[in-house]
Amino acid sequence: MSYLFTSQRDLPEFRHLEAEPLSGALGATISGANLADDLAQDVIDEIYAALLEFKVIFFRDQEMTDEQHLRLARKFGMPQGPGSIPQVEGYPMIRLQRMDEYQTIGGDVNYHTDDIFRDYPSRMSILRGLTMPTGGGNTIWCDMEKAYASLSKPMRKFLEGLTAEQTLSKNFGPGILEGGGARAYEDMMKRNPPVVHPVVRRHPETGRKCLYVCQMTTSRILELNQDESDALLAMLLEHSYQPEHECRFFWRDNSVAIWDNRCTQHRGINDFSPAFRLMHRIPIIDDRRPSLNPDEEPRLEYDRNADFIRVEDLFVNKPELTYHVDGEEPAQGNGAAAESGNGAAQPEDEHAVEVDPGFLNKLNENRHGMVFTPGAAARLKKIPRMFRGAAISAVIAEAQKQGSAEANIAILDAVQAKRRGG
Ligand code: SIN
Repeated sequence: MSYLFTSQRDLPEFRHLEAEPLSGALGATISGANLADDLAQDVIDEIYAALLEFKVIFFRDQEMTDEQHLRLARKFGMPQGPGSIPQVEGYPMIRLQRMDEYQTIGGDVNYHTDDIFRDYPSRMSILRGLTMPTGGGNTIWCDMEKAYASLSKPMRKFLEGLTAEQTLSKNFGPGILEGGGARAYEDMMKRNPPVVHPVVRRHPETGRKCLYVCQMTTSRILELNQDESDALLAMLLEHSYQPEHECRFFWRDNSVAIWDNRCTQHRGINDFSPAFRLMHRIPIIDDRRPSLNPDEEPRLEYDRNADFIRVEDLFVNKPELTYHVDGEEPAQGNGAAAESGNGAAQPEDEHAVEVDPGFLNKLNENRHGMVFTPGAAARLKKIPRMFRGAAISAVIAEAQKQGSAEANIAILDAVQAKRRGG
């Protein structure tokens, strides 16, 4: 019996780069480029070719500044402006993913493709690991083209032409409701109204089809009854997230991942508590909506000289929002409140919130040695879970400056007021 090994694919020929595939499905570690440099166009073209080939590419030992990170991103396209995730100070287009045991972004976030909850999701993302845990906090990417191709032919045919609702409330709704109440939930939904995308989309550059539903945001398939939709979605997601479709990246400080959001999903693994994990991410917009016929999609018009494109411009029916850039005065309107998903007028009486003693103990055990009083913990609980990490960091930094643990209540009030746009 002879075997034909088909998994050893032909690798692209590069002049500058070398690629070492990470799994049979997707992902490669790339060497031969220093991303901090002002890279020549032919190197950028090779990086982009590697991205199209491997869908997610990884670079090691890439120490760089935020400015260099931004310069690299701009060579691939237009960065997206401030969204729901805190930004790096002075860089509204760089997402700050700062995760300790109190901040769950990237931790309790299920499999997703970036910004699928907007009409114009991100085309690609560039994520830099600055301070990474050893032995945990890996990220998994899933090849959604493989997931589609490994379905049966009748199933693939059935799925083509179906559409699905994508909404942030699927993943974050319960936490926002619990942390900020109904008003905060409403603000989040105003800022991020549900959108509809095809269940199967075609990659506008490679022409390949992929499955375009995800665990984080896909709430239902619109053409089906609810029970049919629930059952089909459960099957599709279970089918997608299997090791044969995935690769897993073990981060080190100064590793960089660049991925194509049009055909992959990813998920950070929350197994690193109490270690600290700090990453900076730049999302780059796509000017075409996900579609089975991308060539027929009208292109999004935007100012190519702008620093970034505003998030509300990535919706067909723009939400009426202004936004808030950390470090600047909040804009008028409901933007800053909605930015945080925390627009609720909170009760002033701190006793109105019952503080879970376990929560307080956890705070006080934290590695920064900061003392959180019950009043501070109560205020912290009013901040949606996804923003608590940033609030804690602000408290710690300021209290350390002031040398006083008592400062934390005032600081938390200020953080929350800022989030509310006050
Ligand atoms: C993300 O979910 O965008 C980042 C992935 C990670 O934190 O590992």
